[in-house]
Amino acid sequence: MNDTPGRLPQNLPFPELPGFLTPQEREKYRQLIQERLTKENAVLIAHYYTDQEVQSLAEETGGFVGDSLEMARFGKEHSADTVVVAGVKFMGETAKILTPDKKVLMPTLEATCSLDISCPEKEFTRFCDSYPDRTVVVYANTSAAVKARSDWVVTSSIAVRVVGHLAEQGEKVIWAPDHHLGRYVQKETGADMISWQGNCVVHDEFKYQELMDMSRDNPDAMVLVHPESPEPVIDLADFVGSTSQIINACKKSDKKRFIVATDKGIFFKMQQAVPDKELIIAPTSSESATCRSCARCPWMQLNDLKRLSQVFDTPGNEVHVSPDIVEKALVPLNRMFQFMKS
Ligand code: 13P
Ligand code: SF4
Repeated sequence: MNDTPGRLPQNLPFPELPGFLTPQEREKYRQLIQERLTKENAVLIAHYYTDQEVQSLAEETGGFVGDSLEMARFGKEHSADTVVVAGVKFMGETAKILTPDKKVLMPTLEATCSLDISCPEKEFTRFCDSYPDRTVVVYANTSAAVKARSDWVVTSSIAVRVVGHLAEQGEKVIWAPDHHLGRYVQKETGADMISWQGNCVVHDEFKYQELMDMSRDNPDAMVLVHPESPEPVIDLADFVGSTSQIINACKKSDKKRFIVATDKGIFFKMQQAVPDKELIIAPTSSESATCRSCARCPWMQLNDLKRLSQVFDTPGNEVHVSPDIVEKALVPLNRMFQFMKS
């Protein structure tokens, strides 16, 4: 795979995290959110990486917790007038593209993703235009405008199957934006791919040497890795998959202990699914360096209870996607949904 644009600046600024809440404040905000969801005929959907209290509130109020794709599908099928998305901006945008008639709100539109940041639409379009013979496959972690420029949108759960299918048809591929996932997909499929050089600041921090040591010290533990992790870390995995696939692999396995290389937020639903199993977070720092994100996405954490309680009253936090972008982005998204059914 060739060298291409998309590298993030060193020390990309992280957002300021929400302040500490007392138990009384938590309870007050929880009640407020419940009341407003009912009053506004709204449903709360949350990603696995959000705080545990946000995930449990989504479930208790008849909403949903899941991976990025499942969230969008749930929002589409639900009868609510308004969908409140606790996640990052591309998730809100995908929900809006799939349900343009519903109001989509987010606690803050500042909740972005380093992959989305790495792939600005104009630069990406220029890049794609210089390879007109290649099929453009983008990861779901991209803006609506980048999706609109693509031929296919995929999530990590289906990327290998889609690119494998394209390779069988003799198609050459542009992949964006995650270069670790791109390399993994290329290795699995043998496809002719050029990859954008974006990365997830959370998964990028999992460390090969420390994971190898941990694995050696815990020989009975199965290693589960998200494919946004660096190649040597993926190579140590017993199982590689998306968030939902990691949970399912853990449920299905006879093993009792698991080392998990993805955002720690997943442990809430994962531990519920396997109460008698032990989950260990994979190492994110080496002896000589400390981690920045420490296996917690800084933008996912912006979805705090206080912001959620104000979601209906905060101007500027409604997700808007222009009708022409919705129309264009729906094509590659629907292609993925059709492919899933095949
Ligand atoms: P999923 O598509 O598995 O939910 O992952 C989204 C994500 O942001 C991973 O870092
Ligand atoms: Fe983006 Fe990584 Fe956060 Fe997922 S964990 S939303 S890929 S920055």
